[in-house]
Amino acid sequence: MIGRLNHVAIAVKDIAAASAVYRNALGAKVGPVTEQPDHGVSVVFIELPNTKIELLEPLGAGSPIAKFLEKAPDGGIHHVCYEVDDILAARDQLKAQGARVLGDGNPKIGAHGKPVLFLHPKDFCGTLVELEQV
Ligand code: CO
Repeated sequence: MIGRLNHVAIAVKDIAAASAVYRNALGAKVGPVTEQPDHGVSVVFIELPNTKIELLEPLGAGSPIAKFLEKAPDGGIHHVCYEVDDILAARDQLKAQGARVLGDGNPKIGAHGKPVLFLHPKDFCGTLVELEQV
C-alpha cells in the first residue's frame, strides 16, 4: 500500500539553528521557514536527492510538538511520511486491520497542500506515521 518515503520530520526548538546545521554542516538545500498556524508549527523543508527532511518548531500555544520537545529537549525524529495513491482507501484498509487514525479520522491538508492523515505510534512500531496522498 505505501509508496515512497516522502519525508522524515524532526522536531526542533530552534528552527533557524537547525536550518543552519543542515545548510552549513551537512551542505543541504534548505528551504524557507513557513508558519502553519493551523498545525501549530513552523516548517522548513530540506531537499535531499531521494527524499526530504521536514524541520518542525512549535508555533503558538498548544502546539502538538511542544510536549514531544519536553521529552526530547535536543530535538528528535517526530514522524515519517509515506506516500499513498488513495488516502481514503488506505485509511479504510488500515482501520479494518485495527489501526488507529489520529484526530477525527478525516484527512487534513498538510504542509505540501496535499491530504494527510496521522496513524497512532503504538500501532506502528513506536513511530508516528503520516500518510500523504500524492
Ligand atoms: Co510531515
